[in-house]
Amino acid sequence: MAKEGGYQKVASKNDLKEGGLLRVEPNGKPIVLARVNGKVYAMDAVCSHEGGPLEDGTLEGYELKCPWHYAIFDVRNAKVSDQTVWATDLQSYPVKVDEATGDIMVSLQTTKPADGGGREATVQQQAGQEEEQDSDTLQKKYYEEEERRAADNKLSLELLSKEKLEGTDIMTFKFSRERIDYIAGQYAYFKLDGVQNDSKGPIRHFSIASSPTEQDYVMISTRIRRTPYKQRLALLQEGTKITAWGPEGEFVLQEDRPAVFLSGGIGVTPFRSMIKYATDKQLPVKITMFDSNKTQQDILYKDEFDSWANQNKNLKVIYTVTEEEQHDASWSGERGRIDKSMLERHLTRDEIGEAVFYICGPPGMLKAMQELLQKEMQIPKDRLKVEVFTGY
Ligand code: FES
Repeated sequence: MAKEGGYQKVASKNDLKEGGLLRVEPNGKPIVLARVNGKVYAMDAVCSHEGGPLEDGTLEGYELKCPWHYAIFDVRNAKVSDQTVWATDLQSYPVKVDEATGDIMVSLQTTKPADGGGREATVQQQAGQEEEQDSDTLQKKYYEEEERRAADNKLSLELLSKEKLEGTDIMTFKFSRERIDYIAGQYAYFKLDGVQNDSKGPIRHFSIASSPTEQDYVMISTRIRRTPYKQRLALLQEGTKITAWGPEGEFVLQEDRPAVFLSGGIGVTPFRSMIKYATDKQLPVKITMFDSNKTQQDILYKDEFDSWANQNKNLKVIYTVTEEEQHDASWSGERGRIDKSMLERHLTRDEIGEAVFYICGPPGMLKAMQELLQKEMQIPKDRLKVEVFTGY
């Protein structure tokens, strides 16, 4: 029940250990609690970038890092770090802890908090500073910032070849490798000349689909949408030079545990890199990939995966199609979305109990997979790695 100043009990101090995060929903509003140096803080739980669940992020000191694209927020005031400008400030909320009962209470009345005028001034100032910016503008700003940070570390790559996956809008591009030194699963930035009027500007980042063991090229695959950037990319002539830099990203293979890859559509690109790398290096790590696509036609790199699965006894690839005609007798793979029973059909209990689960796909798929793993299957979040695939 709400008390004076709008405070209401949302949790007990026992629920939140030091350095921990906890999602609560007073009046249905998603809020994340963080406990640092014995003090409890409350802020919005939904990341301002693309809606990442901040309670699944990592907390280091006062810095809360979003699990999806690593925007950093200060839990004391919910402000986003200057280092991660692709997200915007969130709202923080006053917290009281009843030391006698251990009750944690949060007030949603952020403009007139009960705990002093200083706080009110801060909130109002923050609101005044907030700029209305759409996500494309923010993304553009983020890319510009990344380009500035890359400074002289940019490379000129030559387009060696391009290929379209028949019946789809997916294209694969191979560029000269130059000096890009990356770990399988990382991404890089690609800037094109001659992109006009694209709301996100002339830069995008793509997962590198090739493996570091493929010495001669860097490969990306993407859907060719009707944006000026994508149209320009599709029309690039072989021999054209583009600017690239990177790599970045922490979505990389942990070699000391079995790996389960959950891929949605074009989100398969970093998995190709990791699978090819593990196969070429004959790594002893067991990899099981569930590759979900709408139709058989949409399955990218299928011939390669099938041939690597023949060479690599530690690799198993399960395809599932979500919109395929039920009566197509030629299809011997799975049907429907990845769910608990599908995972249990192909993984042993030990694998489920030990594996690191890697998820890459569109945001809706990530959310569904995170819920499946964490809520239905009680997989702890330190065994989940998530990458939002933004190359759409
Ligand atoms: S940084 Fe949080 S959703 Fe992208």
